[in-house]
Amino acid sequence: MSNWNAGYVAEVAYTYGYYEELNPLRLQLPLLAAGLALPAHGTACELGFGQGVSVNIHAAASSTRWFGNDFNPAQVAFAQELAGAAGAGAQLSDESFEQFCQRDDLPDFDYIALHGIWSWVSEENRALIVDFLHRKLKVGGVAYISYNTQPGWAAMMPLRDLLSEHSRVMAAPGVGVLSRIEGAIDFVERMIATQPRYMLANPLLADRFDKLKALDRNYVAHEYFNMDWQPMAFSRAAALLVEAKLDFAGSATYTDHVDMLNLTAEHQQFLADIPDPIFRETTRAFLVNQQFRKDYWVKGARKLTPFAQAKALRAVRVLLLTPRDEVVLSVHGVLGDADMDELVYGPVLDLLFDHRVRTIGELEQALAEREVSLAALLQIIMILISKGSVNAVQDEVEIAAARPQTERLNRHLLELALERVDLNTLASPVTGGGIFVPHLQQLFLRAKLQGWQLPEEWVREVWPVLQRMNRLLSKDGQVLLTEDENLAELYRAAQQFAERGLPVLQAVGIIG
Ligand SMILES: C[S@@+](CC[C@H](N)C(=O)[O-])C[C@H]1O[C@@H](n2cnc3c(N)ncnc32)[C@H](O)[C@@H]1O
Repeated sequence: MSNWNAGYVAEVAYTYGYYEELNPLRLQLPLLAAGLALPAHGTACELGFGQGVSVNIHAAASSTRWFGNDFNPAQVAFAQELAGAAGAGAQLSDESFEQFCQRDDLPDFDYIALHGIWSWVSEENRALIVDFLHRKLKVGGVAYISYNTQPGWAAMMPLRDLLSEHSRVMAAPGVGVLSRIEGAIDFVERMIATQPRYMLANPLLADRFDKLKALDRNYVAHEYFNMDWQPMAFSRAAALLVEAKLDFAGSATYTDHVDMLNLTAEHQQFLADIPDPIFRETTRAFLVNQQFRKDYWVKGARKLTPFAQAKALRAVRVLLLTPRDEVVLSVHGVLGDADMDELVYGPVLDLLFDHRVRTIGELEQALAEREVSLAALLQIIMILISKGSVNAVQDEVEIAAARPQTERLNRHLLELALERVDLNTLASPVTGGGIFVPHLQQLFLRAKLQGWQLPEEWVREVWPVLQRMNRLLSKDGQVLLTEDENLAELYRAAQQFAERGLPVLQAVGIIG
């Protein structure tokens, strides 16, 4: 193994996920809900972008100038391929944090994001990142940081250390990381079979270990087998970020903003008596047994007047992303699944049914007779966004600037769909971010963009691709084995895409 990776797992590539929390547009509602002024959006940076799917989608889908780094050259090669295809000017380098953060040719940033980095790097690297935030995040700028936290990880930490130690000490020299993972998992499994007292003292761990065993091994490699792995209490992260003059602005997980979904009445009362926001948040983590955090931090939190807050909220533009009759009225929180009252959500969904963009102010006016307060409407919209049913929309100038870039990036992604199935997101100039489009729908879309108009024509184009990729369709959980069965199911899926998928993709500007 070469030594540029400083103990970070680099032999196996990271997954090709897209993370919507990294979309700068997504920070507007949590910040406005907290009554805070929004940052500008000229420049942004993603530290440790992995395969670069998110950074490229965000660069293509806006006029923001994006920069980023990841020290894994194989990942950066893929990220640069996407950047080249999009032509959105994203500058993505294979520098380490040490190299990148010390560059003197970078602009100051309105937004700096790091997803899945903070807990997985050394203390020295965290210090470099804090220093970078201090120097390079503009006043009024926002940082997005996600990390593993305690107490949700507390019981699992010794087990993860044992896995990682097994891999370091017991694996034969030269054995690849994937075999080391299998060896370590097998070892812990055999240890658990002996009924160790640690597992008896922590009865939920066995189940957690079973879930780990089922995870994608590339993900497991990066999550569990790094030299550095530090789940951190909120108060400790806050103490480090204070050095960069950052104030906690709020959770990027929209459902966290609705206490009813996560905290019992007793919990809420207990927290209400804690005046210090950092200590309150640290305590809240115990009440919900928090394991992972995604937060926005702001350099110089500027409180809006109630008038300015309401004005900014009313100007937020949204659109419905799911066909109206497919929105399931249930939302998941720490307390489990909660029903969403049709009387509350139905009228908002009815107004948005045609996938046209509306401001929150327009919705408020249209609902005037029902006397829905702005605060209640904000909560309704945030819950619908958390479910992926609704999305915030950027302004028309941004949409127009982004359109040619997203078209180029999406065309490239659709070509990649001819040979791979792990890129499930396309770029929307309307939402400034990614839209989940499963592989089969990508192939139909590609056929449509090539000029084929009818579902039967898409089937004719797509079937040979699936055959070449050795992919068979399934129905009701059963793999379809004959060609006739596959063609019939493909035709059904194509028709459904024409009726239900395309209108949404049109609304979000993925197809004209
Ligand atoms: C858990 S992955 C997260 C990737 C990406 N942010 C995402 O969420 O998909 C951590 C990433 O940080 C990169 N990384 C780790 N240490 C680094 C360092 N010292 N300098 C630059 N990149 C680093 C790794 O190569 C890896 O892609």
